[in-house]
Order: sequence, then C-alpha cells, then structure tokens
Amino acid sequence: MKFYQKNEIFHLFFIKFNYYNTLINDRLYLMNNISKLISLLGGTGAVAERLNIQPSAISNWKKINKIPSTKLEAVIKLSSYLDLNIENFLPSKKLRDLKFKMLLIICGGIASYKSLEIIRLIKKTDIELDVVMTKSAQKFITPLLVTSLNEKKCYVDLFSVEDETKMNHIRLARDPELILVAPATANIMAKLANGLADDLASTILLASFSKIIFAPSMNPVMWNNLATRENYRKLLDRGITFIEPDTGDMACGENGTGRFPEPKSILEFCLSYVREYQIQKNQFKDISVLITAGPTIEEIDPIRFVSNKSSGKQGFEIASELTKRGAQVTLISGPVNIPFPVCKNIIQVKTAQEMLDNVTQQLPTDILICSAAVADWKLIPKTSSNIKIDSNNKIKKTNEKLLFETEKNPDILKTIAKSNLRPKIVIGFSAETNDINKNAHSKLLSKNIDLIIANDVSNNKVFGEDFNKVSLIEKNNYEEWEKQSKKSVAYHLANKINDLLINYKKRDVNA
Ligand code: C5P
Repeated sequence: MKFYQKNEIFHLFFIKFNYYNTLINDRLYLMNNISKLISLLGGTGAVAERLNIQPSAISNWKKINKIPSTKLEAVIKLSSYLDLNIENFLPSKKLRDLKFKMLLIICGGIASYKSLEIIRLIKKTDIELDVVMTKSAQKFITPLLVTSLNEKKCYVDLFSVEDETKMNHIRLARDPELILVAPATANIMAKLANGLADDLASTILLASFSKIIFAPSMNPVMWNNLATRENYRKLLDRGITFIEPDTGDMACGENGTGRFPEPKSILEFCLSYVREYQIQKNQFKDISVLITAGPTIEEIDPIRFVSNKSSGKQGFEIASELTKRGAQVTLISGPVNIPFPVCKNIIQVKTAQEMLDNVTQQLPTDILICSAAVADWKLIPKTSSNIKIDSNNKIKKTNEKLLFETEKNPDILKTIAKSNLRPKIVIGFSAETNDINKNAHSKLLSKNIDLIIANDVSNNKVFGEDFNKVSLIEKNNYEEWEKQSKKSVAYHLANKINDLLINYKKRDVNA
C-alpha cells in the first residue's frame, strides 16, 4: 500500500483545489498534522466508523503522520464538511516560540490593498515581518499605512543613503526564512525570471537564498500571455512556489483567472511552509553525512587528463539540502565549475585515490552518499612498442601512436560499504545508458548499499543539466520519480533519508 508523504498530500490537495472549492484550501495545513485532523473530524472512533475501517488503522495513520492513498479521497470528503475558522490556522504555541523571519514584498496591483490584511494576520503570529513596497504599490497604498500596521519601517528605496549604509538590500534578502511576494505582478515575475534588479524588490529577490512564494494577481489576459506563462515556468523550475490565482470576476470588469486569493488562504499557505520548515530545520541535527560529488580526473601527463561529464550539481544540491535540515555535511568534491554549497566542510580532490583517502579519513559518519562520478581507470601511456612513457614530463608528439594501459581505480563506495567503517546508511548513484534498473539493482547488491539512485544518461541526458529523472532502488522497494530539478530531487531524497533513518532506529530498538 502506498503512503503519501505530507508534501504529496499537500500537492494532491492543490490538484483537487478546483473540485473541492476554497474550503479545501482552509484545510491544507491540517494535512501536516494527521492527529489534529482526526481530532477535528470527531476523533479516531468517529472517523473509523465513517470510513468503515478499524480504529487501529487510524491510530497508525496518526502514529506515522501519513494517510494511505486508498483512503485519502474519503478523508478529503469528510474534512470538506468541516467549518473551521482562522484561529485554527494561527501558529501553535510551539510555532510561536520559533524565531521565524518573513519578508513581504508588495507589488503594484489593484489587490495591493489586500496585503494589508495579510500584514494584520501575520501580526497575530510571532513571525517577525519586514515589508518592502515597489514604486507602483505606493500608488495604491502608502508606506505610512504599512508602517503603522506593521509597527516597523517599510522599505521602499534601493538608493536610500540612510538604509544602504547598512547594506539593507542584502540584509533584507538574507535575513528572512521566507519571502512572500503578494500581490506578485507580471512585471516582478518577468524581472526575476530574467534576472533584472532595478529596484529594491527585484534586487532582494535576486540576492536571496530564502524560500520564495509568489501570489500573483493580474488581468486574465496578462496571466495567460505566453510571456507570463514562460516566466512562470522558469520560476517554477528554479524552485519558486506559486499560490495560484483564483478564477472569477476581476476588478477590471473582465472574468477569468488572475484574482488575488483571500489573504487568509495566503497566510495559511505560508504557515504550512513555516510548519514544514520547523519540522525540517533540525530534522538531521547531530547526523553526520559524507558526500562525494563531481568527477575525478586521472592525469596522463602534466597537461592531459581523462575525466567524465559530471558537473557535481546533484551532489551539491544534496549537500545544501541536508545542511539546511541541520546535518553536519562534509562534501568531498572533484574538480567542478559551479559554486560550492554552504555546508560544514568542503574538501577538494582530483583523483579517485585522493577521494578514497579523504573519505576514509572523514569516517566514521552516520551516512555516506556517493554521488561522484569516479574515473574507473587510470590510463598509463605507452609507445606503440609497448614501452612505458615517462608521464612526469609532457608526452611529445614524436610518439606517432600511443597505447594506453588501464589500471583499475578503487571503487570508493564498495570499499567503504564492505569495510568495518561502513556508515549506518550508504547511498550510491548509478548512471547507465541501458538496462538502468536491472544494472542498478545488481550494483545495490554487489556493493552492499542501502539505496541506489539510478538515472539514464544516454544521449547526453542529465550531465550538467539542472533536471534529473531518477529511480530509487532498494532491496525490496522501487520508486520511479518524475522528472524534476536537481534541487527538487535533493529535497525528496532528504525526505527519503529521513524515512531510512527512522526505519534504522526502529530496527535498532527491536534488535
Ligand atoms: O559501478 P558504478 O561506477 O556504476 O557505480 C556507481 C556508484 O559507485 C556511484 O555511487 C559512484 O559514486 C560510486 N563509485 C565509487 N568509486 C568508483 C566508481 C563508482 O565510489 N571507483
């Protein structure tokens, strides 16, 4: 039986959004807390009776905080009869203790005034809020009004001498855990999609590592314009989340999709993120992870080398995601041309042997993830008459023909996974051009690893790209994931690793 992860349920609710109307939106966050949902639905007994299942099954959902796919529809229906009020969506005591910083960017749309209600609702929580307004937003509402509501200075100017002495645009970009752009206009979408930074709002968005949520509102024709569609797609692919606009009568007199959703549901959407953030922030606290990434190179002489096409992107995204969730990550990277992620420790190596030596030195850790594309062979140059060439000096072209003898490199993953240094959880990657899953499964067994992430690299797919289509292979489980950004693969893999850790702990307790 397939169990849905919380974020999948969240996603499903949005797919069903139109069908079950906005009431469903009011219930989204409850799906993050199955116990609370069940209690609001009348308790374990009542839900079991209505769904015609054993109460023990419901208790199990509460325990694992998941609902099985076969019952999800019925639970959604039951929950759609609930009449909940906004107080239910305000943060719990625990959330109030959490220091969470949020930035609201108000752009210039007719719905700008509705952002005042978002500020008012956020003020009911303990979320620390800063507000930035674009020039056009100030045509609809004034910074003074925002300042009085938020009881804090509202930022409007990139070129303010007073603010910029403290590099405010960078502080405003880096401090918040979440940036909400509401209403988001076609203009701000176009600016971010194309990397423009000509005012405070767009500069902050471009300089930020934070989670960004856009709540667009605009005329339906603008929303459906191919340029806006393209920008939307680009932003989605880069990991920006959208709260889709509603459909209905617009202030401009037209009818269609582009209405600003109710402030209450926008806040609720953000609170779901805050909750997820709260859960994930320390999910891997005290867990040490060692990650290999990128290619390795084997020198032929001081000038030439053999290597492969790995960019290091997937491994770096994993390092970054696990660090965000509190893990102590050491990244051992081969030579790459991309910026290093933020993590505890980064070690740069060139060859397979150096990579193995450094991996060994860093052990013991709780988890080992080998995403590096390690060069499988060293190439030893020889003359056509099979005489070894001195590779300490540049090989001259006077050698008309060269032969290369291969020398096998150590298999880092296999060496460690079969040694007594083996971490609790060992994860490998498998890049193949044919029989992908079959080959990956036999690698899983022969290398003694817990999970293998397999991908098809035929026809130049994957290497250097921002997207990946992977299958996850365990001894008794197989999952095929849809094509998604490498960032998104890292996010879902982190959830999977969390499941593996929970199972590991359970096994430990039962042993
Ligand atoms: O056997 P194959 O190279 O296809 O296995 C791929 C997996 O093994 C990857 O996780 C890769 O990081 C790891 N590997 C390694 N050392 C090697 C070759 C592969 O750690 N020499």
